[in-house]
Amino acid sequence: MPKAQRTQVGIVGAGPAGLVLSHLLYLHGIESVVLENRSRTYVEERVRAGVLEQNTVDLLCEMGVGERMKREGLVHYGIELRFKRRGHRIDFQELTGGKGITIYAQAEVLKDLNNARIATGGQVLFEVEDVGVHDLDSPMPKITYRKDDADCELHCDFIAGCDGFHGICRPSVPAGVLTEYDRTYPFGWLGILAQAPPSSEELIYTYHELGFALLSMRNSQLSRLYLQCAPDEDINGWSDDRIWRELRTRLASTNGWKLTDGPVLQKGVTGMRSFVVEPMQYGRLYLAGDSAHIVPPTGAKGLNLAVTDVQILARALEEYYSKGSHNLLDSYSEVCLRRVWKVQRFSWWMTSMLHRFPDDNPFDQRRQLAELDYVTSSRAAAKTLAENYVGLPLEDH
Ligand code: FAD
Ligand code: PHB
Repeated sequence: MPKAQRTQVGIVGAGPAGLVLSHLLYLHGIESVVLENRSRTYVEERVRAGVLEQNTVDLLCEMGVGERMKREGLVHYGIELRFKRRGHRIDFQELTGGKGITIYAQAEVLKDLNNARIATGGQVLFEVEDVGVHDLDSPMPKITYRKDDADCELHCDFIAGCDGFHGICRPSVPAGVLTEYDRTYPFGWLGILAQAPPSSEELIYTYHELGFALLSMRNSQLSRLYLQCAPDEDINGWSDDRIWRELRTRLASTNGWKLTDGPVLQKGVTGMRSFVVEPMQYGRLYLAGDSAHIVPPTGAKGLNLAVTDVQILARALEEYYSKGSHNLLDSYSEVCLRRVWKVQRFSWWMTSMLHRFPDDNPFDQRRQLAELDYVTSSRAAAKTLAENYVGLPLEDH
């Protein structure tokens, strides 16, 4: 007989979506269990996103998990767009009425959330195996899994599929229910984490004939840098020397700016894709974050979008448990998707403006440069970029 347990909300995945949801539910007095197939160390050390929108920062603070982020995070009020070897600043503070972004690694957010869940008696089970979701269209769906060689069952009122793009929740929805909207890009990003003080106070997004490059950071001693590469680029072909050389070429500037290098601590290649599934719900299964959509990283939106989904889902579950009303649960997918598509548009636009496409011709390149010129010289265009980058407001309907 499997070991059976009961909870209100079963959550698959302990990434940003799963952990934020679990802690928000706890703060509303709603029970949940999070099931994660990786180890806690693996999840907390995976190098991923680093830019938090104001809404994400405010939410983490309201949840009581923002103390270290407030202390260690770097608040930025602008970014640089660099093209034709010249930098142009987009001033978020001035263009958005004082808003900014915070640089604080996804891994650090996850450590803070795990600590908060554990300190408040939360159940986050790591290294579970063979997770399956069942009876999704019944009033009591269940999650089966194996933990320490024992078969287990978790009976829930609702299941939150927070298990990322490669998870099992989305594929468990019966065929024909979901529609997928997809675009893959003919390039990837080669990313490094380097023991080197950031060479700029703010992020630099660069358009160059050889391809896009991005200078970002994690703290005052760690730089995070990216180069556009082939989607299937062999990382073994890239010595640290070659990476720094290429970064220096693409990021070069006419004003004497220098790139500080240092030991490379981690490197990897990430594919680029835009993907949305509609609707983000089936029966009592609610998909949130990367399990429902992914964006190319050029807009720095993946983590932030995962957080807003679960903010909307937590509100809906709170309304259900406190008032018995299904209204917000019923509109979950529609409310999320309106914002998801706007963020998709922005991420696609930033990606198309800044990357070299293999079938580009000189016309396309001139058009891209004209777009960059326009964005950095028209206040209306700069404002559009700024208000999307710092994060669009959350709408109720
Ligand atoms: P995830 O963070 O993917 O979390 C899902 C969790 O579910 C994982 O912990 C996974 O182990 C677990 N899981 C999966 N399958 C199962 C299963 N069967 N059973 C139990 N658990 C399961 N965004 C940016 O904005 N900037 C970046 O620089 C950036 N870099 C990225 C680099 C990489 C390599 C990747 C993959 C993503 C990157 N992203 C970036 C995107 C961003 O990290 C994601 O959008 C964000 O992590 C989404 O959070 P999530 O909780 O929805 O999904
Ligand atoms: C990062 O710091 O990892 C980062 C920053 C901005 C992006 C993507 C990634 O657009």
